[in-house]
Amino acid sequence: MQIAIDGPAGAGKSTIAKNLSKKLGWIYIDTGAMYRATALYCINNNIDLNNQDKIENAVIEKVDITLVYENSSQIIFLNGINVSDEIRTQEISTATSLIAKYEGIRNYLVKMQQVLASKNDVIMDGRDIGSVVLPDATLKIYLTASNEERAKRRFQEQSEKGITQSFEEVLKELNSRDKQDSEREVSPLCKAEGAVEIDTTNLDIDQIVEEIINLLNRNR
Ligand code: DC
Repeated sequence: MQIAIDGPAGAGKSTIAKNLSKKLGWIYIDTGAMYRATALYCINNNIDLNNQDKIENAVIEKVDITLVYENSSQIIFLNGINVSDEIRTQEISTATSLIAKYEGIRNYLVKMQQVLASKNDVIMDGRDIGSVVLPDATLKIYLTASNEERAKRRFQEQSEKGITQSFEEVLKELNSRDKQDSEREVSPLCKAEGAVEIDTTNLDIDQIVEEIINLLNRNR
């Protein structure tokens, strides 16, 4: 059983996926975290992010990513080291969107994601889950929200972490990342065929989770 959730940054994907994971007892796979860990590896090894060949040579078969679940939170290991907090910075967000356009990197991570999904019932979120990673998912969801609402959520998250960035900066970064993620040639962010679109701007999390569970019950 698989639920594929796609959508732009700040649409509520991970919050909803975590809630669904608790309710259904399925594993949550945050594929964005896998791309983020890969970007962190490139930065830590001083690899030019604009050089596709160098990035792919450095990463493929050398980067190992493991997801572990403890007390219903996800811990991400990059070659054995816990990088769960390190991958959440602004610098990593920007670098991740840049390296996520490289075909070799995507193929490498998509294979890992498909292996994980073949062993468990999963809720997987990202940008290409319904279209590329799990094209036969039991249920496909495409989450959206207005740009202002998505930036507001990201701004709140950052403020809670003590990161001082203005709302305008957050909005600008979000828009430029979405543009890059939707306009790249390989597996761009898109609403997959058969996906149900949910606008989360004015809905609360419980309502959305309930709606998705109702949709799942109708699909299985
Ligand atoms: O969901 P997130 O913000 O953690 O994702 C970080 C970046 O990774 C995002 O800008 C796009 C990219 N990404 C992707 O290209 N494909 C995925 N399946 C998941 C994330």
